[in-house]
Amino acid sequence: MHTNGFALTKQNMNSTELTAAQPTNEIGGNGAEPLIRLSGVTKVFLTDEVETHALSGIHLDIREGEYISIAGPSGCGKTTLLSILGLLDSPSQGSYALKGHEVANLSFADRARVRNREIGFIFQSFNLIGDLSVFENVELPLTYRGMSAGDRKALVTEALERVGMAHRGKHLPSQLSGGQQQRVAVARALAGRPAILLADEPTGNLDSRNGEAVMQLLKELHQGGATICMVTHDERFAQHADRTVHLFDGQIVEDRMAA
Ligand SMILES: Nc1ncnc2c1ncn2[C@@H]1O[C@H](COP(=O)(O)OP(=O)(O)OP(=O)(O)O)[C@@H](O)[C@H]1O
Ligand SMILES: [Mg+2]
Repeated sequence: MHTNGFALTKQNMNSTELTAAQPTNEIGGNGAEPLIRLSGVTKVFLTDEVETHALSGIHLDIREGEYISIAGPSGCGKTTLLSILGLLDSPSQGSYALKGHEVANLSFADRARVRNREIGFIFQSFNLIGDLSVFENVELPLTYRGMSAGDRKALVTEALERVGMAHRGKHLPSQLSGGQQQRVAVARALAGRPAILLADEPTGNLDSRNGEAVMQLLKELHQGGATICMVTHDERFAQHADRTVHLFDGQIVEDRMAA
C-alpha cells in the first residue's frame, strides 16, 4: 500500500496508545510547525452545471492545544471547512498539511485511515448507532485499527469516564437524554486519542442546560491539552475558545485571538 509518512505515525500511536495521556505529536508541540496548515484551499461544488464556490483561498494554521471557534452566516462554508479539516472531503485546490504531511490528495482509503487515527468528530445530531450500546458505539472506530479487545476496552472505559458516562455503557442511545447522547459522542471522538477534535454545532440539538454541560466538557478537554475546532452560532460558547475565525462567502474575513 502507498505510504506517505503516516506509517511512522501509525507505529508510534500503536506503541503509545495505552501509555500517553494525550496524543503524541512530534510536530506541532514545539511551536515550530502547526498541527494543521491549510494554504490556498478552495472548494468548488458542481451541481447541474452550477458552480458553488464554498471556500476560496483559505489560509489557516492550527497549533496543537488551540481551541478555535468558527463563526459566520448560514452557507458561508463552515461545514465545508470542517469536512476538509476532518478529511471527509478533499479541497478542489490548495494544500493541507497535517503534522507536516500533505494530505490534500490522498486516496479514499488513505484518507479514511488517517481520519480514523487523527480526527475526532462531534456532530450536531450525535450520529450514534441506534442498535449498538453506548460502549459499542465508542468502541466502533477503534475496531478499524486492529487493536486487541483488551486495549479497546481500556480506551473506551477511559473515554466514558472522562465524559461521566461510564455507568451507562450497556444502555442504547435511545435510552439516554440528548445531553447524555452528545457526551457519548464526545467519548467516541476522544477514545482514539485524535490529534484534533472537530465539532459542528455540537449544542444545536440540545436545550440550554445540556448545551452548557457539553460546552463545559469541551472546555475541560481543552484545558487538559486537546486541540479543538468548533463551529457554533452561539456567541456565549464561541467565547470559550481562545481564537475565533469568521467566515463570509467562503473566505476568512476575521481571525481574532480572545482578549
Ligand atoms: N455537497 C454539496 N454540493 C453542492 N453544494 C454544496 C454542497 N455542500 C455545500 N454546498 C454549498 O456550499 C456552500 C457552503 O455550505 P456549508 O454547508 O459549508 O455552509 P455552512 O456555513 O455550514 O452553513 P450552515 O450555517 O447553514 O450550516 C453553500 O452555498 C452550500 O449550498
Ligand atoms: Mg453547516
